[in-house]
Amino acid sequence: MDRDDYRFIVLGSGIAGLYFSLKVADQGKVAILTKKHRAESNTNYAQGGIAAATGPDDSVEQHIKDTCAAGVGLCRAEAVQTILTEGPARIRDLIELGMQFSRRQSAVPGEKEWDLGMEGGHSRRRILHAQDITGKEIERALLAAISRHPNIEIYENYFAIDLITSRSLRLEEPDRCHGLHVLDIEERRVLTLGAQAVVIATGGCGKAYLYTTNPDIATGDGVAMAWRAGVPVTNMEFIQFHPTCLYHPQAKTFLISEAIRGDGGIIKNLKGHPFMDSYPLKSLERRDVVARAIDQEMKRKGSECVYLDITHKPAPFLMNRFPHIYQTCLRYGIDITKESIPIVPAAHYQCGGIRTDTEGLTDLPGLLAIGEAACTGLHGANRLASNSLLEALVVAHRAAERLRELPLQDPHPNLAPWADAPNPDKEEGVVIRHDWNEIRRVMWDYVGIVRTRRRLERARKRIRHLQDEIQEFYRQARLTPDLLELRNLVTVADLIVQASLTRPESRGLHYILDHPQTDPEWSRRETLLIRGRPPSWTSIACSPGSGTA
Ligand code: FAD
Ligand code: SIN
Repeated sequence: MDRDDYRFIVLGSGIAGLYFSLKVADQGKVAILTKKHRAESNTNYAQGGIAAATGPDDSVEQHIKDTCAAGVGLCRAEAVQTILTEGPARIRDLIELGMQFSRRQSAVPGEKEWDLGMEGGHSRRRILHAQDITGKEIERALLAAISRHPNIEIYENYFAIDLITSRSLRLEEPDRCHGLHVLDIEERRVLTLGAQAVVIATGGCGKAYLYTTNPDIATGDGVAMAWRAGVPVTNMEFIQFHPTCLYHPQAKTFLISEAIRGDGGIIKNLKGHPFMDSYPLKSLERRDVVARAIDQEMKRKGSECVYLDITHKPAPFLMNRFPHIYQTCLRYGIDITKESIPIVPAAHYQCGGIRTDTEGLTDLPGLLAIGEAACTGLHGANRLASNSLLEALVVAHRAAERLRELPLQDPHPNLAPWADAPNPDKEEGVVIRHDWNEIRRVMWDYVGIVRTRRRLERARKRIRHLQDEIQEFYRQARLTPDLLELRNLVTVADLIVQASLTRPESRGLHYILDHPQTDPEWSRRETLLIRGRPPSWTSIACSPGSGTA
Protein backbone atom coordinates (compact mmCIF):
# COMPACT_ATOMS: atom_id res chain seq x y z
CA MET A 1 0.00 0.00 0.00
CA ASP A 2 1.31 3.41 -0.96
CA ARG A 3 0.83 5.43 2.22
CA ASP A 4 -0.08 8.91 0.97
CA ASP A 5 -2.02 7.93 -2.05
CA TYR A 6 -5.53 8.17 -0.68
CA ARG A 7 -7.75 11.15 0.01
CA PHE A 8 -10.25 9.06 1.98
CA ILE A 9 -9.54 6.12 4.27
CA VAL A 10 -12.58 4.02 5.08
CA LEU A 11 -12.41 1.50 7.91
CA GLY A 12 -14.70 -1.46 7.28
CA SER A 13 -16.24 -3.27 4.34
CA GLY A 14 -19.85 -3.72 5.48
CA ILE A 15 -22.76 -1.89 3.90
CA ALA A 16 -21.76 1.50 5.35
CA GLY A 17 -18.10 1.44 4.27
CA LEU A 18 -18.74 -0.01 0.82
CA TYR A 19 -21.67 2.20 -0.08
CA PHE A 20 -19.92 5.33 1.19
CA SER A 21 -16.84 4.49 -0.88
CA LEU A 22 -18.88 4.13 -4.04
CA LYS A 23 -20.54 7.48 -3.39
CA VAL A 24 -17.37 9.45 -2.56
CA ALA A 25 -14.99 7.95 -5.11
CA ASP A 26 -15.61 10.62 -7.76
CA GLN A 27 -14.05 13.14 -5.33
CA GLY A 28 -10.73 11.33 -4.88
CA LYS A 29 -9.01 8.01 -4.28
CA VAL A 30 -10.44 5.75 -1.57
CA ALA A 31 -8.72 3.01 0.44
CA ILE A 32 -11.01 0.59 2.27
CA LEU A 33 -9.17 -1.16 5.09
CA THR A 34 -10.79 -4.23 6.54
CA LYS A 35 -9.49 -6.53 9.23
CA LYS A 36 -10.49 -9.84 7.64
CA HIS A 37 -11.83 -11.02 4.30
CA ARG A 38 -13.71 -8.24 2.47
CA ALA A 39 -17.19 -9.80 2.84
CA GLU A 40 -16.79 -10.66 6.53
CA SER A 41 -19.04 -8.22 8.37
CA ASN A 42 -22.33 -8.07 10.25
CA THR A 43 -23.86 -6.98 6.96
CA ASN A 44 -23.02 -10.33 5.41
CA TYR A 45 -25.25 -12.14 7.92
CA ALA A 46 -28.29 -9.86 7.73
CA GLN A 47 -31.37 -11.91 7.07
CA GLY A 48 -34.66 -9.98 7.44
CA GLY A 49 -33.97 -7.10 5.07
CA ILE A 50 -34.20 -3.33 4.69
CA ALA A 51 -37.20 -1.37 5.92
CA ALA A 52 -38.53 1.43 3.71
CA ALA A 53 -41.94 2.85 2.98
CA THR A 54 -42.41 1.62 -0.59
CA GLY A 55 -45.72 -0.31 -0.43
CA PRO A 56 -49.02 1.12 -1.72
CA ASP A 57 -50.58 1.09 1.78
CA ASP A 58 -47.51 2.61 3.43
CA SER A 59 -46.13 6.10 4.02
CA VAL A 60 -43.01 7.71 5.46
CA GLU A 61 -45.21 9.11 8.25
CA GLN A 62 -46.30 5.61 9.22
CA HIS A 63 -42.69 4.37 9.19
CA ILE A 64 -41.72 7.34 11.38
CA LYS A 65 -44.54 6.51 13.81
CA ASP A 66 -43.41 2.88 14.13
CA THR A 67 -39.74 3.85 14.52
CA CYS A 68 -40.52 6.33 17.31
CA ALA A 69 -42.80 3.88 19.13
CA ALA A 70 -40.02 1.25 19.04
CA GLY A 71 -37.47 3.86 20.18
CA VAL A 72 -39.71 4.68 23.17
CA GLY A 73 -39.87 8.35 22.27
CA LEU A 74 -36.10 8.90 22.37
CA CYS A 75 -35.48 9.06 18.60
CA ARG A 76 -33.86 12.29 17.39
CA ALA A 77 -36.46 14.11 15.29
CA GLU A 78 -34.09 15.22 12.56
CA ALA A 79 -32.59 11.75 12.13
CA VAL A 80 -35.95 10.03 11.91
CA GLN A 81 -37.37 12.51 9.41
CA THR A 82 -34.28 12.60 7.19
CA ILE A 83 -33.34 8.93 7.16
CA LEU A 84 -36.81 7.52 6.67
CA THR A 85 -37.71 10.10 4.01
CA GLU A 86 -34.56 9.49 1.97
CA GLY A 87 -34.71 5.70 2.45
CA PRO A 88 -36.75 4.80 -0.64
CA ALA A 89 -34.38 6.75 -2.93
CA ARG A 90 -31.37 4.89 -1.52
CA ILE A 91 -33.12 1.57 -2.06
CA ARG A 92 -33.64 2.49 -5.73
CA ASP A 93 -29.99 3.41 -5.92
CA LEU A 94 -28.96 0.07 -4.41
CA ILE A 95 -31.06 -1.72 -7.00
CA GLU A 96 -29.36 0.29 -9.75
CA LEU A 97 -26.01 -0.85 -8.35
CA GLY A 98 -27.10 -4.46 -8.87
CA MET A 99 -28.91 -5.53 -5.68
CA GLN A 100 -31.55 -8.20 -6.36
CA PHE A 101 -34.47 -8.08 -3.93
CA SER A 102 -37.04 -10.88 -3.86
CA ARG A 103 -40.15 -10.29 -5.95
CA ARG A 104 -43.52 -11.97 -6.11
CA GLN A 105 -46.44 -12.15 -8.53
CA SER A 106 -48.53 -8.95 -8.35
CA ALA A 107 -52.33 -8.71 -8.70
CA VAL A 108 -51.77 -7.67 -12.34
CA PRO A 109 -51.21 -10.86 -14.36
CA GLY A 110 -47.66 -11.22 -15.65
CA GLU A 111 -46.29 -8.43 -13.43
CA LYS A 112 -44.01 -8.75 -10.42
CA GLU A 113 -43.77 -6.58 -7.30
CA TRP A 114 -41.43 -6.40 -4.29
CA ASP A 115 -42.12 -9.19 -1.83
CA LEU A 116 -42.43 -6.98 1.24
CA GLY A 117 -41.80 -8.75 4.54
CA MET A 118 -43.16 -8.09 8.02
CA GLU A 119 -41.23 -7.82 11.31
CA GLY A 120 -41.91 -6.92 14.94
CA GLY A 121 -43.03 -3.33 15.63
CA HIS A 122 -43.92 -2.57 11.98
CA SER A 123 -47.54 -1.72 11.26
CA ARG A 124 -47.12 -2.45 7.53
CA ARG A 125 -45.34 -5.00 5.37
CA ARG A 126 -42.29 -2.92 4.37
CA ILE A 127 -39.16 -5.08 4.53
CA LEU A 128 -37.37 -5.50 1.21
CA HIS A 129 -35.33 -8.67 1.32
CA ALA A 130 -33.40 -11.21 -0.74
CA GLN A 131 -35.00 -14.41 0.56
CA ASP A 132 -33.35 -14.79 4.00
CA ILE A 133 -29.83 -13.86 2.87
CA THR A 134 -30.29 -10.13 2.32
CA GLY A 135 -26.89 -9.20 3.72
CA LYS A 136 -25.00 -11.63 1.54
CA GLU A 137 -26.69 -10.20 -1.53
CA ILE A 138 -25.87 -6.63 -0.42
CA GLU A 139 -22.19 -7.53 -0.01
CA ARG A 140 -22.16 -9.27 -3.39
CA ALA A 141 -23.74 -6.34 -5.19
CA LEU A 142 -21.60 -3.64 -3.54
CA LEU A 143 -18.32 -5.54 -3.83
CA ALA A 144 -19.03 -6.18 -7.52
CA ALA A 145 -19.67 -2.46 -8.08
CA ILE A 146 -16.47 -1.59 -6.22
CA SER A 147 -14.39 -4.02 -8.25
CA ARG A 148 -15.42 -2.03 -11.35
CA HIS A 149 -14.44 1.33 -9.82
CA PRO A 150 -10.94 2.61 -10.67
CA ASN A 151 -10.73 4.94 -7.66
CA ILE A 152 -11.35 2.39 -4.89
CA GLU A 153 -8.89 -0.15 -3.47
CA ILE A 154 -9.71 -2.70 -0.78
CA TYR A 155 -6.98 -3.86 1.63
CA GLU A 156 -7.86 -7.05 3.48
CA ASN A 157 -6.24 -8.08 6.78
CA TYR A 158 -5.46 -4.47 7.69
CA PHE A 159 -6.42 -3.77 11.30
CA ALA A 160 -7.04 -0.14 12.29
CA ILE A 161 -5.40 0.47 15.67
CA ASP A 162 -5.68 4.13 16.66
CA LEU A 163 -6.40 7.53 15.19
CA ILE A 164 -3.71 10.17 14.84
CA THR A 165 -5.00 13.56 15.94
CA SER A 166 -3.56 17.05 16.47
CA ARG A 167 -3.72 16.27 20.17
CA SER A 168 -1.82 12.99 19.86
CA LEU A 169 0.78 14.81 17.72
CA ARG A 170 0.90 17.61 20.31
CA LEU A 171 0.27 20.22 17.61
CA GLU A 172 -0.79 23.69 18.63
CA GLU A 173 -3.94 23.84 16.55
CA PRO A 174 -7.64 22.99 17.02
CA ASP A 175 -7.92 19.23 17.27
CA ARG A 176 -8.57 17.26 14.06
CA CYS A 177 -7.94 13.81 12.64
CA HIS A 178 -4.81 13.42 10.49
CA GLY A 179 -4.82 9.69 9.89
CA LEU A 180 -4.25 6.47 11.76
CA HIS A 181 -2.00 3.57 12.67
CA VAL A 182 -2.84 0.27 11.04
CA LEU A 183 -1.56 -3.26 11.61
CA ASP A 184 -0.78 -5.03 8.35
CA ILE A 185 -1.57 -8.48 9.72
CA GLU A 186 0.19 -10.55 7.07
CA GLU A 187 3.40 -8.52 7.05
CA ARG A 188 3.32 -8.00 10.84
CA ARG A 189 4.12 -4.32 10.58
CA VAL A 190 2.38 -1.13 11.67
CA LEU A 191 1.75 1.50 8.99
CA THR A 192 1.24 5.19 9.60
CA LEU A 193 -1.36 6.53 7.17
CA GLY A 194 -2.52 10.08 6.54
CA ALA A 195 -5.73 11.17 4.82
CA GLN A 196 -7.97 14.19 4.45
CA ALA A 197 -10.83 12.23 5.96
CA VAL A 198 -10.97 8.98 7.94
CA VAL A 199 -14.33 7.23 8.01
CA ILE A 200 -15.15 4.74 10.74
CA ALA A 201 -17.53 2.06 9.43
CA THR A 202 -16.42 -0.74 11.72
CA GLY A 203 -19.82 -1.97 12.88
CA GLY A 204 -21.01 -2.99 16.34
CA CYS A 205 -19.83 -4.79 19.46
CA GLY A 206 -21.95 -7.94 19.91
CA LYS A 207 -18.83 -9.89 20.90
CA ALA A 208 -18.80 -8.04 24.22
CA TYR A 209 -21.48 -10.55 25.26
CA LEU A 210 -21.21 -14.27 25.82
CA TYR A 211 -24.12 -15.01 23.50
CA THR A 212 -24.51 -12.98 20.35
CA THR A 213 -25.80 -13.19 16.79
CA ASN A 214 -22.74 -11.25 15.62
CA PRO A 215 -19.72 -12.70 13.82
CA ASP A 216 -16.24 -12.44 15.35
CA ILE A 217 -15.43 -9.08 13.76
CA ALA A 218 -17.94 -7.26 16.00
CA THR A 219 -15.58 -6.10 18.74
CA GLY A 220 -16.43 -2.38 18.84
CA ASP A 221 -13.05 -1.31 17.44
CA GLY A 222 -14.24 1.95 15.89
CA VAL A 223 -16.10 3.10 18.99
CA ALA A 224 -13.08 2.31 21.17
CA MET A 225 -10.71 4.13 18.80
CA ALA A 226 -12.93 7.20 18.67
CA TRP A 227 -13.31 7.18 22.46
CA ARG A 228 -9.54 7.04 22.94
CA ALA A 229 -9.24 10.03 20.58
CA GLY A 230 -11.65 12.04 22.77
CA VAL A 231 -14.68 11.81 20.46
CA PRO A 232 -18.09 11.76 22.26
CA VAL A 233 -19.89 8.43 22.45
CA THR A 234 -23.60 8.30 23.15
CA ASN A 235 -26.47 5.95 24.17
CA MET A 236 -24.24 2.91 24.77
CA GLU A 237 -26.68 1.51 27.35
CA PHE A 238 -29.04 0.54 24.54
CA ILE A 239 -27.76 -2.88 23.45
CA GLN A 240 -30.40 -4.77 21.53
CA PHE A 241 -30.94 -8.46 22.28
CA HIS A 242 -32.51 -10.40 19.44
CA PRO A 243 -35.15 -12.75 20.85
CA THR A 244 -34.61 -15.61 18.42
CA CYS A 245 -31.09 -17.00 18.17
CA LEU A 246 -30.88 -20.75 17.48
CA TYR A 247 -30.21 -22.74 20.65
CA HIS A 248 -28.03 -25.69 19.72
CA PRO A 249 -24.69 -26.81 21.21
CA GLN A 250 -22.94 -26.70 17.83
CA ALA A 251 -24.51 -23.48 16.49
CA LYS A 252 -22.35 -20.58 17.61
CA THR A 253 -24.29 -17.55 16.51
CA PHE A 254 -27.09 -18.50 14.15
CA LEU A 255 -29.98 -16.06 13.91
CA ILE A 256 -33.55 -17.14 13.23
CA SER A 257 -34.94 -14.10 11.43
CA GLU A 258 -37.74 -12.05 12.89
CA ALA A 259 -39.33 -12.40 9.47
CA ILE A 260 -40.40 -15.88 10.60
CA ARG A 261 -42.54 -14.26 13.28
CA GLY A 262 -43.63 -11.71 10.66
CA ASP A 263 -44.98 -14.65 8.66
CA GLY A 264 -46.85 -16.14 11.61
CA GLY A 265 -44.19 -17.83 13.80
CA ILE A 266 -45.39 -18.31 17.39
CA ILE A 267 -43.16 -18.29 20.46
CA LYS A 268 -43.99 -21.11 22.88
CA ASN A 269 -42.57 -22.53 26.07
CA LEU A 270 -41.40 -26.08 26.71
CA LYS A 271 -45.00 -27.23 27.23
CA GLY A 272 -46.12 -25.66 23.95
CA HIS A 273 -47.92 -22.74 25.62
CA PRO A 274 -47.82 -19.52 23.50
CA PHE A 275 -46.90 -17.30 26.45
CA MET A 276 -46.62 -14.14 24.31
CA ASP A 277 -50.36 -14.34 23.63
CA SER A 278 -51.06 -12.23 26.71
CA TYR A 279 -49.32 -9.26 25.01
CA PRO A 280 -51.32 -7.00 22.62
CA LEU A 281 -49.21 -7.91 19.56
CA LYS A 282 -48.51 -11.47 20.75
CA SER A 283 -45.31 -12.93 19.23
CA LEU A 284 -44.89 -9.83 17.01
CA GLU A 285 -44.27 -7.43 19.88
CA ARG A 286 -41.29 -5.06 19.82
CA ARG A 287 -37.95 -6.85 20.06
CA ASP A 288 -37.10 -5.58 23.57
CA VAL A 289 -40.49 -6.70 24.87
CA VAL A 290 -40.16 -10.20 23.36
CA ALA A 291 -36.56 -10.66 24.60
CA ARG A 292 -37.58 -9.69 28.14
CA ALA A 293 -40.64 -11.95 28.06
CA ILE A 294 -38.48 -14.91 26.95
CA ASP A 295 -35.85 -14.13 29.59
CA GLN A 296 -38.57 -14.08 32.25
CA GLU A 297 -40.18 -17.29 31.01
CA MET A 298 -36.82 -19.11 30.97
CA LYS A 299 -35.96 -17.92 34.48
CA ARG A 300 -39.42 -18.70 35.83
CA LYS A 301 -39.50 -22.21 34.39
CA GLY A 302 -35.78 -22.87 34.76
CA SER A 303 -35.64 -23.84 31.06
CA GLU A 304 -32.60 -23.39 28.84
CA CYS A 305 -34.56 -22.15 25.84
CA VAL A 306 -38.03 -21.52 24.44
CA TYR A 307 -39.40 -22.43 21.00
CA LEU A 308 -40.43 -20.77 17.76
CA ASP A 309 -43.14 -22.66 15.90
CA ILE A 310 -43.85 -22.07 12.19
CA THR A 311 -44.95 -25.63 11.36
CA HIS A 312 -48.49 -24.46 10.53
CA LYS A 313 -47.16 -22.87 7.31
CA PRO A 314 -46.88 -25.03 4.18
CA ALA A 315 -43.45 -26.65 3.82
CA PRO A 316 -42.87 -25.39 0.23
CA PHE A 317 -43.52 -21.81 1.37
CA LEU A 318 -40.98 -22.08 4.20
CA MET A 319 -38.37 -23.74 2.01
CA ASN A 320 -38.70 -21.03 -0.62
CA ARG A 321 -39.00 -18.00 1.69
CA PHE A 322 -36.38 -19.08 4.26
CA PRO A 323 -34.00 -21.43 2.40
CA HIS A 324 -30.94 -20.52 4.47
CA ILE A 325 -32.68 -20.95 7.83
CA TYR A 326 -34.35 -24.15 6.62
CA GLN A 327 -31.08 -25.68 5.40
CA THR A 328 -29.01 -24.57 8.39
CA CYS A 329 -31.50 -25.88 10.94
CA LEU A 330 -31.74 -29.13 8.99
CA ARG A 331 -27.96 -29.52 9.29
CA TYR A 332 -28.42 -29.32 13.06
CA GLY A 333 -31.16 -31.97 12.89
CA ILE A 334 -34.14 -29.58 13.11
CA ASP A 335 -36.74 -29.67 10.34
CA ILE A 336 -38.52 -26.32 10.75
CA THR A 337 -41.43 -27.50 8.59
CA LYS A 338 -42.17 -30.25 11.11
CA GLU A 339 -40.85 -29.17 14.52
CA SER A 340 -40.42 -26.05 16.66
CA ILE A 341 -37.06 -24.31 16.67
CA PRO A 342 -35.27 -24.03 20.05
CA ILE A 343 -34.33 -20.36 20.58
CA VAL A 344 -32.70 -18.02 23.10
CA PRO A 345 -32.16 -14.24 23.09
CA ALA A 346 -28.65 -13.01 22.21
CA ALA A 347 -26.85 -9.66 21.93
CA HIS A 348 -27.51 -8.35 18.44
CA TYR A 349 -27.15 -4.64 17.82
CA GLN A 350 -25.53 -1.55 19.31
CA CYS A 351 -28.03 1.33 19.16
CA GLY A 352 -25.56 3.83 20.60
CA GLY A 353 -22.10 4.64 19.29
CA ILE A 354 -19.94 7.51 18.11
CA ARG A 355 -22.10 10.61 18.25
CA THR A 356 -22.78 11.95 14.73
CA ASP A 357 -25.30 13.94 12.78
CA THR A 358 -27.13 12.50 9.77
CA GLU A 359 -24.13 13.35 7.57
CA GLY A 360 -21.80 11.15 9.56
CA LEU A 361 -19.88 14.12 11.01
CA THR A 362 -18.35 13.57 14.44
CA ASP A 363 -17.10 16.26 16.83
CA LEU A 364 -13.56 15.72 15.48
CA PRO A 365 -12.94 17.46 12.13
CA GLY A 366 -11.57 15.01 9.56
CA LEU A 367 -13.29 12.04 11.24
CA LEU A 368 -16.63 10.65 10.14
CA ALA A 369 -18.55 7.65 11.47
CA ILE A 370 -21.33 5.75 9.70
CA GLY A 371 -23.31 2.53 10.12
CA GLU A 372 -23.62 0.62 13.36
CA ALA A 373 -20.50 2.23 14.87
CA ALA A 374 -22.25 5.60 14.80
CA CYS A 375 -25.21 6.97 16.71
CA THR A 376 -27.36 9.37 14.67
CA GLY A 377 -30.22 9.06 17.18
CA LEU A 378 -32.50 7.25 14.71
CA HIS A 379 -33.03 4.22 16.94
CA GLY A 380 -33.55 5.96 20.26
CA ALA A 381 -33.93 3.43 23.07
CA ASN A 382 -34.62 0.46 20.79
CA ARG A 383 -34.07 -0.09 17.06
CA LEU A 384 -37.03 -0.99 14.91
CA ALA A 385 -36.21 -4.18 13.00
CA SER A 386 -34.47 -3.70 9.63
CA ASN A 387 -33.89 0.05 10.14
CA SER A 388 -30.11 -0.28 10.48
CA LEU A 389 -29.22 -1.24 6.93
CA LEU A 390 -31.39 1.67 5.80
CA GLU A 391 -29.66 4.07 8.18
CA ALA A 392 -26.26 2.94 6.94
CA LEU A 393 -27.24 3.62 3.31
CA VAL A 394 -28.79 7.03 3.88
CA VAL A 395 -26.07 8.38 6.17
CA ALA A 396 -23.25 7.02 3.97
CA HIS A 397 -24.77 8.81 0.99
CA ARG A 398 -25.30 12.04 2.90
CA ALA A 399 -21.75 11.91 4.27
CA ALA A 400 -20.31 11.59 0.76
CA GLU A 401 -22.45 14.52 -0.44
CA ARG A 402 -21.38 16.66 2.53
CA LEU A 403 -17.72 16.06 1.80
CA ARG A 404 -18.18 17.89 -1.51
CA GLU A 405 -18.60 21.14 0.43
CA LEU A 406 -16.36 20.59 3.44
CA PRO A 407 -12.98 22.34 3.34
CA LEU A 408 -10.85 19.26 3.98
CA GLN A 409 -7.27 19.71 5.09
CA ASP A 410 -4.21 17.69 4.21
CA PRO A 411 -2.76 15.63 7.06
CA HIS A 412 0.32 16.89 8.87
CA PRO A 413 3.42 15.98 6.78
CA ASN A 414 5.20 14.34 9.73
CA LEU A 415 2.90 11.83 11.33
CA ALA A 416 4.48 10.09 14.30
CA PRO A 417 5.58 6.55 13.45
CA TRP A 418 4.44 3.67 15.63
CA ALA A 419 6.54 3.05 18.74
CA ASP A 420 7.09 -0.68 19.10
CA ALA A 421 6.36 -2.53 22.34
CA PRO A 422 9.45 -3.33 24.49
CA ASN A 423 8.77 -7.08 24.19
CA PRO A 424 7.65 -7.56 20.62
CA ASP A 425 7.92 -11.35 20.87
CA LYS A 426 5.79 -11.74 23.94
CA GLU A 427 2.48 -13.24 22.94
CA GLU A 428 0.12 -14.59 25.57
CA GLY A 429 -2.74 -16.37 23.83
CA VAL A 430 -3.95 -17.98 27.06
CA VAL A 431 -4.22 -14.67 28.92
CA ILE A 432 -6.04 -13.05 26.00
CA ARG A 433 -8.56 -15.89 25.74
CA HIS A 434 -9.15 -15.89 29.48
CA ASP A 435 -9.74 -12.12 29.70
CA TRP A 436 -11.94 -12.19 26.61
CA ASN A 437 -14.16 -14.89 28.13
CA GLU A 438 -14.34 -13.10 31.45
CA ILE A 439 -15.48 -9.83 29.87
CA ARG A 440 -18.18 -11.58 27.87
CA ARG A 441 -19.41 -13.53 30.89
CA VAL A 442 -19.52 -10.43 33.14
CA MET A 443 -21.44 -8.48 30.49
CA TRP A 444 -23.92 -11.29 29.94
CA ASP A 445 -24.54 -11.87 33.66
CA TYR A 446 -24.59 -8.28 34.92
CA VAL A 447 -25.27 -5.98 31.97
CA GLY A 448 -27.78 -8.07 30.01
CA ILE A 449 -31.49 -8.01 29.22
CA VAL A 450 -32.49 -7.27 32.83
CA ARG A 451 -30.15 -5.13 34.94
CA THR A 452 -29.92 -3.88 38.49
CA ARG A 453 -27.78 -1.10 39.88
CA ARG A 454 -25.96 -3.53 42.11
CA ARG A 455 -25.09 -5.83 39.19
CA LEU A 456 -23.96 -2.85 37.14
CA GLU A 457 -21.70 -1.64 39.98
CA ARG A 458 -20.24 -5.11 40.23
CA ALA A 459 -19.67 -5.20 36.46
CA ARG A 460 -17.97 -1.80 36.62
CA LYS A 461 -15.46 -3.03 39.22
CA ARG A 462 -14.62 -6.19 37.32
CA ILE A 463 -14.37 -4.52 33.93
CA ARG A 464 -12.20 -1.68 35.30
CA HIS A 465 -9.87 -4.20 36.90
CA LEU A 466 -9.57 -6.13 33.64
CA GLN A 467 -9.08 -2.89 31.74
CA ASP A 468 -6.09 -1.94 33.89
CA GLU A 469 -4.54 -5.37 33.45
CA ILE A 470 -5.12 -5.40 29.71
CA GLN A 471 -3.69 -1.90 29.31
CA GLU A 472 -0.56 -2.94 31.17
CA PHE A 473 -0.26 -6.08 29.09
CA TYR A 474 -0.94 -4.17 25.86
CA ARG A 475 2.09 -1.93 26.39
CA GLN A 476 4.36 -4.94 26.77
CA ALA A 477 3.25 -7.54 24.27
CA ARG A 478 3.46 -8.09 20.54
CA LEU A 479 0.62 -6.53 18.61
CA THR A 480 -1.77 -9.16 17.33
CA PRO A 481 -5.37 -8.79 16.14
CA ASP A 482 -6.50 -10.75 19.23
CA LEU A 483 -4.75 -8.37 21.59
CA LEU A 484 -6.10 -5.31 19.78
CA GLU A 485 -9.63 -6.71 19.86
CA LEU A 486 -9.32 -7.51 23.56
CA ARG A 487 -8.29 -3.93 24.31
CA ASN A 488 -11.22 -2.58 22.29
CA LEU A 489 -13.70 -5.04 23.75
CA VAL A 490 -12.88 -4.10 27.33
CA THR A 491 -13.18 -0.43 26.40
CA VAL A 492 -16.66 -0.78 24.89
CA ALA A 493 -17.73 -3.01 27.78
CA ASP A 494 -16.75 -0.19 30.13
CA LEU A 495 -18.64 2.34 28.00
CA ILE A 496 -21.80 0.18 28.09
CA VAL A 497 -21.55 -0.13 31.88
CA GLN A 498 -20.89 3.59 32.35
CA ALA A 499 -23.83 4.58 30.17
CA SER A 500 -26.10 2.05 31.91
CA LEU A 501 -25.19 3.49 35.29
CA THR A 502 -25.90 7.00 34.00
CA ARG A 503 -29.52 6.37 32.94
CA PRO A 504 -31.57 6.08 36.13
CA GLU A 505 -34.79 4.81 34.48
CA SER A 506 -35.95 1.88 32.34
CA ARG A 507 -36.47 2.75 28.70
CA GLY A 508 -36.55 0.38 25.74
CA LEU A 509 -33.51 -1.86 25.80
CA HIS A 510 -32.21 -0.52 29.10
CA TYR A 511 -34.33 -2.31 31.68
CA ILE A 512 -33.28 -1.82 35.27
CA LEU A 513 -35.26 -3.60 37.97
CA ASP A 514 -34.65 -0.87 40.56
CA HIS A 515 -36.53 1.62 38.30
CA PRO A 516 -38.84 -0.37 36.01
CA GLN A 517 -40.68 2.72 34.68
CA THR A 518 -39.65 5.53 32.35
CA ASP A 519 -38.79 8.82 34.03
CA PRO A 520 -40.31 11.81 32.13
CA GLU A 521 -37.26 13.87 33.06
CA TRP A 522 -35.12 11.47 30.98
CA SER A 523 -37.45 11.26 27.99
CA ARG A 524 -35.27 13.63 25.93
CA ARG A 525 -31.86 12.82 27.30
CA GLU A 526 -29.09 10.89 25.60
CA THR A 527 -26.27 9.64 27.78
CA LEU A 528 -22.92 11.13 26.80
CA LEU A 529 -19.44 9.78 27.45
CA ILE A 530 -16.32 11.82 26.75
CA ARG A 531 -12.91 10.58 27.78
CA GLY A 532 -11.54 12.39 30.82
CA ARG A 533 -14.93 13.76 31.86
CA PRO A 534 -17.58 12.26 34.14
CA PRO A 535 -20.51 10.59 32.33
CA SER A 536 -23.30 13.06 31.53
CA TRP A 537 -26.23 13.59 29.17
CA THR A 538 -27.43 15.97 26.47
CA SER A 539 -30.96 17.13 25.67
CA ILE A 540 -32.26 16.32 22.22
CA ALA A 541 -35.28 17.21 20.11
CA CYS A 542 -37.36 14.03 19.83
CA SER A 543 -40.04 12.95 17.41
CA PRO A 544 -43.30 12.33 19.22
CA GLY A 545 -43.57 8.67 20.18
CA SER A 546 -44.62 6.19 22.79
CA GLY A 547 -43.23 6.76 26.27
CA THR A 548 -43.82 3.36 27.81
CA ALA A 549 -40.77 1.50 29.09
P1 FAD B 1 -20.48 -4.23 9.45
O1 FAD B 1 -21.32 -4.76 8.37
O2 FAD B 1 -20.41 -4.98 10.70
O3 FAD B 1 -19.02 -4.05 8.88
C1 FAD B 1 -17.95 -3.70 9.73
C2 FAD B 1 -16.67 -3.83 8.94
O4 FAD B 1 -15.60 -3.23 9.66
C3 FAD B 1 -16.24 -5.27 8.69
O5 FAD B 1 -15.74 -5.34 7.40
C4 FAD B 1 -15.12 -5.48 9.71
O6 FAD B 1 -14.21 -6.48 9.36
C5 FAD B 1 -14.49 -4.11 9.69
N1 FAD B 1 -13.70 -3.78 10.88
C6 FAD B 1 -14.09 -3.80 12.18
N2 FAD B 1 -13.09 -3.39 12.97
C7 FAD B 1 -12.04 -3.09 12.16
C8 FAD B 1 -10.72 -2.63 12.38
N3 FAD B 1 -10.23 -2.39 13.61
N4 FAD B 1 -9.92 -2.43 11.31
C9 FAD B 1 -10.36 -2.67 10.06
N5 FAD B 1 -11.60 -3.14 9.79
C10 FAD B 1 -12.43 -3.33 10.83
N6 FAD B 1 -30.07 -5.05 10.12
C11 FAD B 1 -31.09 -4.77 9.30
O7 FAD B 1 -31.40 -3.60 9.05
N7 FAD B 1 -31.78 -5.79 8.71
C12 FAD B 1 -31.48 -7.10 8.92
O8 FAD B 1 -32.11 -7.97 8.35
C13 FAD B 1 -30.44 -7.41 9.82
N8 FAD B 1 -30.13 -8.69 10.10
C14 FAD B 1 -29.05 -8.95 10.88
C15 FAD B 1 -28.68 -10.28 11.10
C16 FAD B 1 -27.55 -10.58 11.84
C17 FAD B 1 -27.17 -12.01 12.09
C18 FAD B 1 -26.78 -9.52 12.37
C19 FAD B 1 -25.54 -9.83 13.17
C20 FAD B 1 -27.15 -8.21 12.18
C21 FAD B 1 -28.28 -7.92 11.44
N9 FAD B 1 -28.67 -6.60 11.21
C22 FAD B 1 -29.73 -6.33 10.38
C23 FAD B 1 -27.84 -5.48 11.65
C24 FAD B 1 -27.00 -5.02 10.44
O9 FAD B 1 -26.57 -6.15 9.74
C25 FAD B 1 -25.80 -4.21 10.87
O10 FAD B 1 -26.20 -3.18 11.72
C26 FAD B 1 -25.12 -3.60 9.66
O11 FAD B 1 -24.84 -4.58 8.72
C27 FAD B 1 -23.86 -2.88 10.08
O12 FAD B 1 -23.21 -2.47 8.92
P2 FAD B 1 -21.83 -1.69 9.06
O13 FAD B 1 -21.37 -1.43 7.67
O14 FAD B 1 -21.99 -0.55 9.96
O15 FAD B 1 -20.87 -2.72 9.81
C1 SIN C 1 -33.75 -10.39 11.52
O1 SIN C 1 -33.78 -10.86 10.40
O2 SIN C 1 -34.45 -10.79 12.45
C2 SIN C 1 -32.80 -9.29 11.80
C3 SIN C 1 -33.42 -8.02 11.46
C4 SIN C 1 -32.70 -6.88 12.11
O3 SIN C 1 -31.86 -7.07 12.97
O4 SIN C 1 -33.02 -5.75 11.75
